[in-house]
Amino acid sequence: RIADPCVLVMFGITGDLARHKLLPAVYDLANRGLLSPRFCLVGVGRRPWGDESMRRYVKQAARSGARTPWRPAIWEQLAAGMRFVEFSSFEDDVAYQSLTDVVTSLDASRGTGGNRAFYLSIPPGWFPAVTERIARSGLVDEAVGSWRRVVVEKPFGHDRASARKLDELVGRIVRPDDVFRVDHYLGKETVQNILALRFANTMLEPLWNQRYVDHVQVTMAEDIGIGTRAGYYDMIGSARDVIQNHLLQLLALTAMEEPTSMEAHAVRTEKEKVLDAVRLERDGVLDLGLSTARGRYGVGFQGGQRVRSYLEEDGVAPGSRTETYAAVRLEIANRRWAGVPFYLRAGKRLARRVTEVAVVFKQPPFLPFGQAATAGLGANTIVLRIQPDEGITLRLASKVPGTQMELRDVTMDFGYGASFNEESPEAYERLILDALLGDAPLFPHQREVDLSWRILDPVIEHWASSGVPEEYRPGSWGPSSAHDLLARDGRTWRRS
Ligand code: BG6
Repeated sequence: RIADPCVLVMFGITGDLARHKLLPAVYDLANRGLLSPRFCLVGVGRRPWGDESMRRYVKQAARSGARTPWRPAIWEQLAAGMRFVEFSSFEDDVAYQSLTDVVTSLDASRGTGGNRAFYLSIPPGWFPAVTERIARSGLVDEAVGSWRRVVVEKPFGHDRASARKLDELVGRIVRPDDVFRVDHYLGKETVQNILALRFANTMLEPLWNQRYVDHVQVTMAEDIGIGTRAGYYDMIGSARDVIQNHLLQLLALTAMEEPTSMEAHAVRTEKEKVLDAVRLERDGVLDLGLSTARGRYGVGFQGGQRVRSYLEEDGVAPGSRTETYAAVRLEIANRRWAGVPFYLRAGKRLARRVTEVAVVFKQPPFLPFGQAATAGLGANTIVLRIQPDEGITLRLASKVPGTQMELRDVTMDFGYGASFNEESPEAYERLILDALLGDAPLFPHQREVDLSWRILDPVIEHWASSGVPEEYRPGSWGPSSAHDLLARDGRTWRRS
């Protein structure tokens, strides 16, 4: 489906996210013929730019980040619908008036049908000022036959209370169904494939429960440091940055019951139920010291280069206690998952970049092969490889060829590259398109956001009063407390 003609107003167009992801995605969508020729993009920012400067900037972002080939005719068509509105600050009332004039004139000159989407890729601290002024400007007033939508980027608040406040602010300008919260993990093909794998096959679902599953590990490891993002990251830390959203969404998709359809309300209902059942207690006992771990990278070497410690990164506050690694052990209080730990971990400057969900199965109740034959065997495991080597691995025991009965683990692999000719769209392409189409299934509902904070608030509170995070070596798999977290249960983290 092609998106309706519309104006997309992008707050934060000069930021990193827009440059690296959003603008290339807009170009790719246009190039794939998924945007209307009447699509318009209005950039809002604090640079002293005119329309031409913005076009140059978008062109450069698209040329360096787009996946599809450069097509001058497509670019010309897009560029004709681009405008820039300079804001001296997000409290600049005159600029909101100019924005309204620009949008209204585009509606008339390009025939947008009055449809408007506001993409808020700005720090949450600016939400009150921006939403209040958008509301006052009349930009979101209802108009018969046209739509108004707001797209918001994470972080969705700092904790449960601030997330609720943020939601209330956005709720002042559009109806709840017109708010699209971006968790870009949900835009990834491999993440969407979790539900396909689970519910379009017969083989897996009967095993997907506490009778057969020993535990689940969700890993999001990055080999990079925080780069130039200290201003954002030092206030946030790993748990708020990615566990609150990406990792809990992966957990929800892995653990939820089958939805009645793939409609937004049906998928969200099941995700909410499972998030609501998540517990931090370990066998009924709450001890956050035992069910969490955190760390921050120290100084060291990675990829043959000396790298700075987190505290030495530009912009990190002296005495900062922000974690760059976080791990939590969760349980899910329902019939399917009772007693099965879900271990979530995320960190920067780890050994390699990998995101995966590993479902580790129990050992067979009996092995008729003798101790020697099975000595080196691991557990059956299904690994959903989210990235970078997208696919699925099945680990099974197999007989080693030869005259002896000796068993060894082997893997069966499905890789996207080998199985499909189709290229996966970039997550942001899918999400921007869906927001413009009004398709909500890939956007978390506020209730999911709220339930995720319910899980994390006590953890973050606990860390606030537990000293500084433990240091770990760049290029390692994180702090020793993370190792202890699993060792306490007699388990180990997978080496991906
Ligand atoms: C973002 C986080 O949401 O995801 C970043 O804020 C992180 O800290 C990024 O680096 C990773 O995204 P991806 O798609 O590369 O896994």
